[in-house]
Amino acid sequence: MTLPARVQLVEVGPRDGLQNEAAGISTADKIAFVNRLSAAGHTMIEVSAFVSPKWVPQMADAAEVFAGITRRPGVRYTALVPNLKGLERAKAAHVDEVAIFPAASETFSRRNIDQTIDEALDAGKAVCDAARSSGLRVRAYLSTVFGCPFEGAVPAARVAELTARLLDMGAYEVSLSDTIGVAHPGQVAGVLHEVGKRAPADRLALHFHDTRGTALVNVYAGVEAGVTTFDASAGGLGGCPYAPGATGNAATEDLLYMLDGLGIATGVRLDLLMDASAFIEPRIGHPLPSRVYRANHGRR
Ligand code: HMG
Ligand code: MG
Repeated sequence: MTLPARVQLVEVGPRDGLQNEAAGISTADKIAFVNRLSAAGHTMIEVSAFVSPKWVPQMADAAEVFAGITRRPGVRYTALVPNLKGLERAKAAHVDEVAIFPAASETFSRRNIDQTIDEALDAGKAVCDAARSSGLRVRAYLSTVFGCPFEGAVPAARVAELTARLLDMGAYEVSLSDTIGVAHPGQVAGVLHEVGKRAPADRLALHFHDTRGTALVNVYAGVEAGVTTFDASAGGLGGCPYAPGATGNAATEDLLYMLDGLGIATGVRLDLLMDASAFIEPRIGHPLPSRVYRANHGRR
């Protein structure tokens, strides 16, 4: 097996991470966090979410965060949008691209966005059509690919079908998401095999939560299967307020340590990334879970 020379990391800490924190993080601190992440070498940063502030109050200041960040050339600053209202807000904030986020299971879809899967796909298609006419690229997440907190197992064939529909409607990439951190490497290989019948690996990304400690080995399984884009969160921040039991994302530090060791480039510097994590840790009021961050932080 030949490993890739380079992979793309998508830093989701400011969005997936901070959306789930109980502590109120100030807009200025969010801006400083994003700027530290870009200084670390990230080329794609999910800054916030243009969702209903009633549903996710932590993301209510999305426009102000976008207005305050220092945009580094070569970095794509992106945000979640669930609908056309979100897209309009995102465009006004001059996002570089947007991400839609339907799910593969009905109950989670209803709980997270109050829509059926088909309704979410209709809303996603409207976003894709409108974004295209504005010259904006659309990424898609597909949640609960590896299991639903309410329904349990999700058939891989259903995941493959929904992935194909998202690509057909204009998403440039689908990030197959393990919302509640239940996936294991055998399942990752199986799902990628099934999805691979409908979508090439270069149109796929993987988004793992580390609830059961399998995120890192799942990334390795993804690399082995030919995927080269991975979502990760500084310090292992993360979680979805509408997915009971979901904890943080795959930690960017942990990915970097493994990928560096494998000789796979990311363009992100571990020491500077840890500066970003060390900046946000006291503001969220609890220790960050990343193993590599914990191992190195005390020694710096
Ligand atoms: P709804 O209440 O059904 O929406 O929510 P609605 O269309 O009936 O509108 C109700 C109100 O919300 C109206 O305002 C709208 O204007 C407003 P009012 O008239 O009551 O004053 N509204 C908005 N406001 C701002 N921005 C918007 C927007 N849209 C409507 N875009 C809705 C439906 C989808 C809006 C809501 O359910 C929502 O915002 N959900 C977001 C939930 C969320 O953000 N979850 C976390 C992110 S997903 C995730 O973490 C998973 C992921 O990481 C991958 C993985 O791990 O699986 C991506
Ligand atoms: Mg997530």
